[in-house]
Order: sequence, then structure tokens, then C-alpha cells
Amino acid sequence: MKMVIFVGSRGKNGRTASASRALLEGFVEAGGEGELVFLPDLNIERCKQCQDDGWGTCRSEGRCSQEDDMPTLIEKIKGADIVVFATPVYFGSLSESTRAFLDRLRRIAWHEKQEGIAGKKALGICVAGGGGGGASECTGELGRILATCRFDVVDMVPARRQNLDLKLEVLKLTGKWLANSI
Ligand SMILES: Cc1cc2nc3c(=O)[nH]c(=O)nc-3n(C[C@H](O)[C@H](O)[C@H](O)COP(=O)(O)O)c2cc1C
Repeated sequence: MKMVIFVGSRGKNGRTASASRALLEGFVEAGGEGELVFLPDLNIERCKQCQDDGWGTCRSEGRCSQEDDMPTLIEKIKGADIVVFATPVYFGSLSESTRAFLDRLRRIAWHEKQEGIAGKKALGICVAGGGGGGASECTGELGRILATCRFDVVDMVPARRQNLDLKLEVLKLTGKWLANSI
């Protein structure tokens, strides 16, 4: 039973990482295993919209023609039972690394022969660590994008600086619940 958590913050000890670790802690306590993957450390190019019609090999072959870390990340998704996207809230929205990753992923996930993504359980976490505004808007946006990727979105968890301690408890319980429901 494996969980992969894609963290869209550079801070290894930041709020988004803490929220991710709380979820993973509950998951591991209930018998699962998993890892955190920090997206800003990786090479994820933006989508180049290769052809004039906006498509490219993502549509014809279900793979991107760019050579970067995307194939490794897609294999991590395919090898997991549950995929988590944890983003800090920037301007009431997703972080840039989370967006670049999902902009590319949704195209690949749409390919008719793509296996191992459609129907996979996914969960989103959005952490607004500043004034606290924008967390619920961010979860709405992230949830829609994950649904476009054809994930089975099991939950979306907004957190803000002011309620982070409470949400860490909720996330730990959510990790246990996920492990017991897979
Ligand atoms: C470019 C930028 C935009 C931000 N926008 C918001 C925001 O809309 N709402 C908010 O509460 N915090 C905002 N913040 C603060 C971050 O959410 C906060 O620093 C958060 O703790 C970052 O996550 P981390 O601790 O995992 O690095 C912003 C920070 C940055 C760098």
C-alpha cells in the first residue's frame, strides 16, 4: 500500500511539508508506506504546446517529447495506490511547480491508452501560510484539475496558518482512513 506525495513547496520544513508528513504519518501507522517528492527540486519544463493546434505527442502517443523529470514522476504515480498533491497557496492558487507538473500531467493522462492514472485515488492539500486567504479557492481549483487528470479525487483539504495545528490532526486521521480504505 503505497502513497506518493508531490509537494509544491521548496521548504523541507515548511507548512506544506508538515501537512504532508502528518498525512503520511497516519498512513504509515495504519500499515502503509510512502514518500514525499519536492517538485521545485526537479526539472519540470512548462508545456510547449508543440503544434499549432495546441497538441503534440501527448495526444498522439500519450507521452511528452521533452526530456526532463516527467517520465520518472509518471512512473511514481503508476506505482502508487494513492497520489497526493500538496501545494502552498500562492496568490490564492497553486504554486508554480505544482501547476507546471499538472499542466503536463493532464495532457498525458488524457491519452486513451494511458494506464495507471485514470481512476487512481488522489487527494489534494492546499496550505495558505500567510494571511490565510485563498485556501478554499485553491482546493476548488486543484480538485478540478485532478478530476481533469481522471483521478478519483477522494478528498481535498484546505489549511491556513491559523488552523494548521487542527488540520495536522485531521490529516493524520485522514492518512489512517486512506490506508484502511484501500
Ligand atoms: C508568491 C507567494 C504568494 C503567496 N500568496 C499567499 C496567499 O494568497 N494566501 C496566503 O495565505 N499565503 C500566501 N503566501 C504565503 C504562503 O502560503 C506561505 O509562505 C506558506 O507557508 C508557504 O508554504 P511553505 O511553508 O510550505 O513554504 C504566498 C507566498 C508566496 C511566496
